[in-house]
Amino acid sequence: MAQVSFERASCTYPGAVRPAVDRLDLVVEDGELLALVGPSGSGKSTVLRMLAGLEPVSAGRVQVDGVDVSEQPPGERDVAMVFQNYALYPHMSVAENLGFSLKLARVPAAERERRVREAARLLDLEALLSRKPKTLSGGQRQRVAMGRAIVREPQVFLFDEPLSNLDAKLRAQTRLEIQKLHAEFGVTSLFVTHDQVEAMTLAQRMIVMNAGIIEQIGTPEEVYEHPATPFVHHFLGHVNVFHGCVENSTLDFGAFSLALPLRGLPEATSAVAYARPHLLELDHRPTEPPQFRAIIGAINTAGPLVKVELASKTGTVVHVEVSQERYRQLKLRKGAEVFVKVKNMRVFPQSSGCSLLPQKSG
Ligand SMILES: Nc1ncnc2c1ncn2[C@@H]1O[C@H](COP(=O)(O)OP(=O)(O)OP(=O)(O)O)[C@@H](O)[C@H]1O
Ligand SMILES: [Mg+2]
Repeated sequence: MAQVSFERASCTYPGAVRPAVDRLDLVVEDGELLALVGPSGSGKSTVLRMLAGLEPVSAGRVQVDGVDVSEQPPGERDVAMVFQNYALYPHMSVAENLGFSLKLARVPAAERERRVREAARLLDLEALLSRKPKTLSGGQRQRVAMGRAIVREPQVFLFDEPLSNLDAKLRAQTRLEIQKLHAEFGVTSLFVTHDQVEAMTLAQRMIVMNAGIIEQIGTPEEVYEHPATPFVHHFLGHVNVFHGCVENSTLDFGAFSLALPLRGLPEATSAVAYARPHLLELDHRPTEPPQFRAIIGAINTAGPLVKVELASKTGTVVHVEVSQERYRQLKLRKGAEVFVKVKNMRVFPQSSGCSLLPQKSG
């Protein structure tokens, strides 16, 4: 078990104009399970590969338990990585695949066998030990790939989208296995995923990466409910966006206005407000402001929440999600006028002035 730290660590690929990972500062606590999310090309895999020793650390350093490993070759690092495109040795049995790295490391046969048996037990592979990879299903192969990392009993596990080739059911199952594994051994783990639900269910903390830097780090709840930047807000699912301007000491969004969230915001500063659909409320009668009238354009009742699309008088399209119960209570119908209660908005002042905003329509 180990603490991992990146200290202003960068990786610039040969010929690249800017670093793929740019002065990363990050401490992964001993025994923590940390998820990395972010758009394609944002540097997630590069972070793992720097830690595994598969890419050079061009500036700064990477430490495992206080030891600088930046210059260590991959074989000397006690770090095991599971790749998205895992390749098993086709001519070896499952047991041989599992034990191969231990054989290379000259681990004695009895110890090798013990570790292989233990990994097979954990991953439910005991009945498959003598089979060849080509006779296994995708999920079983994935478990063998994970088993190869487990037998090494590393200080740190790195998972680079290990579940992305699996169907939904197998993903959920394998996710549980990773959770179980982590609960049993508490090995420090970094986990890259494209799937936000996966990140939210697996991780103790998550990182949102963008263009080689960390946009936000926090518990899944913190990141989802209190996005630190507009980027994080957009990245983590559907969101309503309102463009506004500071006028007469309030933030005017056309359809509604808000009290100034930040003191001293000068007149004519532009701002963007974000609200998640499930955090807006609907009502037939006006309540206390801020709120605005809107006409229901579409209703989708499939799923646990009812999704309602509305248009304000100024033409802004707004998405609101209400519970099935609230939907029945309000007897919502297409074409009806309702009040959208504006709450739980996140407001971000922009560096540009209001003159750059599109003209308000009515
Ligand atoms: N071997 C390489 N040589 C040159 N550039 C690379 C190399 N590997 C990655 N890059 C570049 O570095 C940046 C980060 O890549 P990385 O693979 O870390 O992204 P990622 O977040 O894992 O993306 P994805 O979600 O698509 O896997 C990208 O701009 C990519 O094009
Ligand atoms: Mg990647």
